Amino acid sequence: MDTLMQKARQARENAFCPYSHYAVGAALLTKDGRIFTACNVENAAYPLCTCAERTAFCEAVAAGYRDFMAIAICGGREGTPPADACPPCGACRQIMAQFCEGDFRILLEDGTHTLDMLLPVRFTL
Ligand code: THU
Repeated sequence: MDTLMQKARQARENAFCPYSHYAVGAALLTKDGRIFTACNVENAAYPLCTCAERTAFCEAVAAGYRDFMAIAICGGREGTPPADACPPCGACRQIMAQFCEGDFRILLEDGTHTLDMLLPVRFTL
């Protein structure tokens, strides 16, 4: 799991965040061992900014993967190493809920959490 966080840190290097200056990287591990990485990509039209986690899920699903084991997320001021934990935003937690069970692991700089811990009551259809 150290490797997964390393991949998230690498992906964070590519973050495009000229507005918030907050760079995020994510690395998503499928149940069969594939890793999809992504970073946040901002836009002058602020609502179009995309989160790293959500993009990692979209990449994986577009490639045909729907079963996931864990995601590593790191974030912090661009140009500086991630210091504090970067918990996923509410919208990204809901994206996770679409594809993952409660035991899906969410690795942050402060340790490992589960989807059950971060989004205990989830909307599903
Ligand atoms: N951001 C993410 O990439 N993931 C999150 O879960 C929280 C926020 C990004 C979006 C935006 O580019 C920047 O961090 C500041 O909100």
